[in-house]
Amino acid sequence: MSEQSATDREIDTESGSSSHTDSEPSTETDPDAFDDLLAFVEAELNFATSHYNDSYLDRRISSRMRRTQTDTYTEYVDLLRSDPDEQESLLESFSINVTGFFRNPEVWDSIRQILRHCSARAQDTDETVRIWSAACADGREPYSLSLLAHLDPEINADAVEILGTDISEPALETARKGVYKEPRTVDLDDQLSFLEEYDEDYEQYVEHQERTYKLGDDIRQSVTFERHDLINDEPKSTTDFDLVVCRNLFIYIDNEFKRPMLQTIARSLTDDGFLVIGKAETIPPSLKSAFEVRDARRRIYQCDKP
Ligand SMILES: C[S@@+](CC[C@H](N)C(=O)[O-])C[C@H]1O[C@@H](n2cnc3c(N)ncnc32)[C@H](O)[C@@H]1O
Repeated sequence: MSEQSATDREIDTESGSSSHTDSEPSTETDPDAFDDLLAFVEAELNFATSHYNDSYLDRRISSRMRRTQTDTYTEYVDLLRSDPDEQESLLESFSINVTGFFRNPEVWDSIRQILRHCSARAQDTDETVRIWSAACADGREPYSLSLLAHLDPEINADAVEILGTDISEPALETARKGVYKEPRTVDLDDQLSFLEEYDEDYEQYVEHQERTYKLGDDIRQSVTFERHDLINDEPKSTTDFDLVVCRNLFIYIDNEFKRPMLQTIARSLTDDGFLVIGKAETIPPSLKSAFEVRDARRRIYQCDKP
């Protein structure tokens, strides 16, 4: 099945349903009213609007305005001021959580190589392989890492620890449960078919009943989930992670703010740790010296700390 882009389709991680929410930005032209709305969200709701693209924010806000039948930014900010439920809905709508198991399968071929490399090295030194899936949405990315670790005979799953983080609590709630309902438009079996090349029957790790997929205990035990805001919070750890996977968040972030976020990630990596970003994403030129390109097409980098 071909993958749709984040702006094409949004997956509701709570219900597992998929809905068309790609909305045109509001036609209101008063830039002051839009700026006032963003200032309110930044100051009162504590969401760093200034870090995200205006067009992205406008699409999300316009979608909420349609749902709440408000016609202008001014009307909508008034609604926000008086309605805590709408504040929550808007914040949740900023969290675009399109994701999937083994998203961009060819990238996962490279991730497998990195895991094998780290696993072999950890075996020699009797250490743990530490992985951070940052902005992990509802957990399918860290669970893909865990599935790979458990099924690939060249990776020692017992030595692999995976941390999944996201800014969205509802997404993390789904992640912790490890149960996914298949929406009509998404084929989870197809996503998991990446695992078919292994002799082992992967269904022993993912229980599948009708349209519900439940990750097995072994797979869930290798992953822990925590809330983390990549813009405002400190690194999850300093110099500890062998691999950070942070995919499909930077596309929504203004260029100037990618730098501090990538610095947070760089600080979290071991001296020669690996970084994988989304296929449509880039490392700003000013940070290129911190990361050596390992595979430009698949957006795989390796830390180059002095
Ligand atoms: C498109 S999803 C990417 C999911 C997964 N990495 C993938 O590629 O399939 C982007 C995720 O970034 C999260 N996010 C947005 N702003 C964030 C921030 N400041 N810090 C951490 N996560 C954030 C959203 O909640 C959402 O789950």
